[in-house]
This record gives sequence, structure tokens and C-alpha cells, in this order.
Amino acid sequence: MKKFYVLLFLMAPLVLQFCSSSKNAAKIKDSKITYTANVQSLMVANCSPCHFPPKGNKKAYDTYAAVKGDIDAILNRVNRNPEDKGFMPFRHPKLSDSTINVLVQWKNKGFVEN
Ligand code: HEC
Repeated sequence: MKKFYVLLFLMAPLVLQFCSSSKNAAKIKDSKITYTANVQSLMVANCSPCHFPPKGNKKAYDTYAAVKGDIDAILNRVNRNPEDKGFMPFRHPKLSDSTINVLVQWKNKGFVEN
């Protein structure tokens, strides 16, 4: 048991180091979020076919303007719990925190298109 604690103590800096470097990596990525590079593919992957005409007949999210214009509704829906009414993506698993964060950062940084 004592050995376990010694090991834990030795590992702590490694674990901390790992956490802080992955945070930095996320920051670098955040600063480069654009519609063309990040948001468009995310929307296609998670919101089609329903929101992509002509196949989907729900509100279209197939353009920069459409996604930007509805960002608050989109964030509201993807942040709901899967068992709640209005949760999106409809009948699919909840988006990961990092995927939702791409949308949040894109909005916070002023909706860069390209
Ligand atoms: C399997 C089909 C399907 C998928 C996939 C899907 N949706 Fe929906 N979406 C619907 C349906 C059905 C409605 C209408 C019912 C409602 O408003 O809850 C809707 C409505 C919405 C609305 C309200 C639009 C309005 O009319 O004002 C938003 C916002 C929304 N979806 C966002 C998303 C986002 C973002 C994704 C992807 C992450 C997504 N949806 C994926 C089926 C889908």
C-alpha cells in the first residue's frame, strides 16, 4: 500500500503536466475556428440529413448565414439533455463537450467564415 502512494506521488506531476498541455492544445485550436474548416463539417456530420435540404425538411443549416443566424437556438438545443424535449441532434447521442465547444468558440470569436 505504501508503494502505491509513493507511485501516486511520483506520477502527480506527470498527470498535471499532461492536463495543462492538452489545455494549451485546445487553446491553439480554438483560435483558428472557422466556418469552412470546422463548423460546416460538424453540422454535416451531426445535423444531416434533417437540416440539409433537399433531403431534410427541418430548418436548413446548410449555409454560413443560416448557422450563424440561428447559433443561439442551436447551442440551446445541443446543450439540452437527450431525454429533454427539443434535444438535438434528434434521436442521436449528445454531442461531446469538445464538439459543442467548437460552436461556442466560433460564436465568441465573431463567426469567422474562412
Ligand atoms: C434525425 C433528424 C434530426 C437531426 C439529425 C437533427 N435535428 Fe434538429 N430538428 C429535427 C426536428 C424533427 C425538429 C423540429 C422539432 C423541434 O423543434 O424540436 C428540429 C428542430 C431543430 C431546431 C429548431 C429550429 C426551428 O425551427 O427554430 C434547432 C435549432 C435544431 N433542430 C438544431 C439541430 C442541430 C444543431 C442538429 C445537429 C447537431 C440537429 N438539429 C440535428 C430533427 C433533427
